[in-house]
Amino acid sequence: MSNNLQAVRGTRDLLPEECDRFRFITDTSYNIARLYGYGEIATPIFEFTDVFKRTLGETADIVNKEMYTFLDRGGDSLTLRPEGTASIARCFISGGFAQSLPVRWFYSGPMFRYERPQKGRYRQFHQIGVECLGVNSPLADVECLALSYDLLKALGLIDKVQLEINTLGDLESRIRYREQLVAFLAKYKQDLSKDSQDRLDKNPLRILDSKDERDQKILTEAPHLFQYLTEDSKQFFETVKEGLSRLGIPFLINPQLVRGLDYYCHTVFEWTTTQLGAQSAVLSGGRYDGLIQSMGGPQTPGVGWASGVERLSLLLDETNLHKVGPKKIAVIIADESAEMRSLQLTHQLRQKGFQVEMPLSGNLGKKMKRADKAGCSWALVLGENEIKEQKITLKDLSSGAQETLSEEQFWNRWS
Ligand code: HAM
Repeated sequence: MSNNLQAVRGTRDLLPEECDRFRFITDTSYNIARLYGYGEIATPIFEFTDVFKRTLGETADIVNKEMYTFLDRGGDSLTLRPEGTASIARCFISGGFAQSLPVRWFYSGPMFRYERPQKGRYRQFHQIGVECLGVNSPLADVECLALSYDLLKALGLIDKVQLEINTLGDLESRIRYREQLVAFLAKYKQDLSKDSQDRLDKNPLRILDSKDERDQKILTEAPHLFQYLTEDSKQFFETVKEGLSRLGIPFLINPQLVRGLDYYCHTVFEWTTTQLGAQSAVLSGGRYDGLIQSMGGPQTPGVGWASGVERLSLLLDETNLHKVGPKKIAVIIADESAEMRSLQLTHQLRQKGFQVEMPLSGNLGKKMKRADKAGCSWALVLGENEIKEQKITLKDLSSGAQETLSEEQFWNRWS
């Protein structure tokens, strides 16, 4: 087959079973977000490149190595969105939403990053996310986390994930810390990885989440940001922790958690799992009080998170919750004379909200097998006798028990 007929590396076709799981995940998150007062929005899939370049950070991998950027026919530089928060901030500013705070938005859709594909990591992937704009209070961080907790619980995944949190403090705390960290790391500059050497001037905090072993070794002795937090920042984090405890949401403090995007301050968090190999982050986010202003909008605090639908879906595989739905029924045509009546019955059942399979090929045995494979709990069998006597044979596919009912008896039971 010619290469042109294959899906591009890092992209996938989502077949019906996977789409069922995606829908289950997005519908569940939409419903829970609604309980928290979030309305759904959808921003365009591409934006002017500046929207991401100016917000995600000069040294962020996403900007430097991973963006799908192209010139359109008019000569504008456009980028397929690598994440949702920058687009939402752009929408917030251009739509003048500062007049109607707070704004709580839920979104879902595809994102694009030129990353090395592996299990749970794709070049086109899907996120669900929430952003709460205009609330300074740490209670908004707690609410956001409670929403993520409720979602992971509703998906049946809460036992497979763990919440890690950290604080990056306010700007003053980070300026104080940055000086100390740079002074410390400068002593080991030659021993740091190439990426970390580059980051030492531009964004030293990112060195903290380097995966490089040499960096990790040096970092064990490094000063902790916690020591340099302002009183306000400490208090902020205390309130977040107390709120989580009050709601019975377990968490771990991970001082190394700094997140890969420049816009964060105060609370940062990640729900992680050990079940997806190298891709441990299932849902991540944090507070970003400076983002809107850095894009030219009015000073507006924000907090939110996003989660990879593919990763949730991989974790769901074992729980099978997505299979919960309306009971499936099969209508089995056992004789040609029963065709039209079966067609009619199938139609009537679907109109009543039942999910109905009507196998149309093979002999009776094949049709029964097909019904079983499709996960039907009941089979309605119509043959010559049933048509003559205007009856329906009802077979329980799990026990094998069957009985023949008049149409009236049947509908009394099934409506
Ligand atoms: P992020 O950590 O870059 O944050 O991505 C959020 C989630 O998207 C990750 O935890 C992961 O589950 C999923 N994800 C990221 N990259 C991939 C990939 N290549 N393939 C599959 N899944 C992936 C953000 O995007 C921020 N906008 C989150 C946020 C919202 N912060 C505040 N508000």
